[in-house]
Amino acid sequence: MKVERLGEISACIRNDERQTIAFGSLNTTTGEVLSLYVDPKHRHKGLAKEIVRYLVDEWLKTELDEVFATTCPDTDADKLFERLGWKRYSKWVRRKDEDRKI
Ligand SMILES: CC(C)(COP(=O)(O)OP(=O)(O)OC[C@H]1O[C@@H](n2cnc3c(N)ncnc32)[C@H](O)[C@@H]1OP(=O)(O)O)[C@@H](O)C(=O)NCCC(=O)NCCS
Repeated sequence: MKVERLGEISACIRNDERQTIAFGSLNTTTGEVLSLYVDPKHRHKGLAKEIVRYLVDEWLKTELDEVFATTCPDTDADKLFERLGWKRYSKWVRRKDEDRKI
């Protein structure tokens, strides 16, 4: 067995002091958008939109048929992907905060 390197494209936006204020990456093996995060002080300025658009441009250069992101309903991330024209496909989810007997 050996450790395999996973393909990844990462992007960030920095402020004037070169601090990272927005970050996101795309796993080019699975197609998943990961670690999308914008510093709370810089939200709602279109930074996540810019990061996702960059990742999509990079994805279009790969052979992956699709990309996907996992979000929880009614979150800012949910609205972001909806706004960017992504489609939601349903999936089974189990949450820790739901009461289950099984
Ligand atoms: C989700 C997150 C990345 C959004 O970052 P952001 O920079 O504030 O998002 P943007 O400013 O680029 O917003 C892009 C679009 O999303 C929508 N949107 C984002 N936040 C919204 C909100 N609170 N209410 C309504 N729409 C919202 C808007 O339609 C916006 O487009 P518009 O300004 O043209 O209307 C940020 O809130 C975050 O880091 N959250 C915590 C981590 C997280 O949830 N990551 C995602 C994991 S997949």
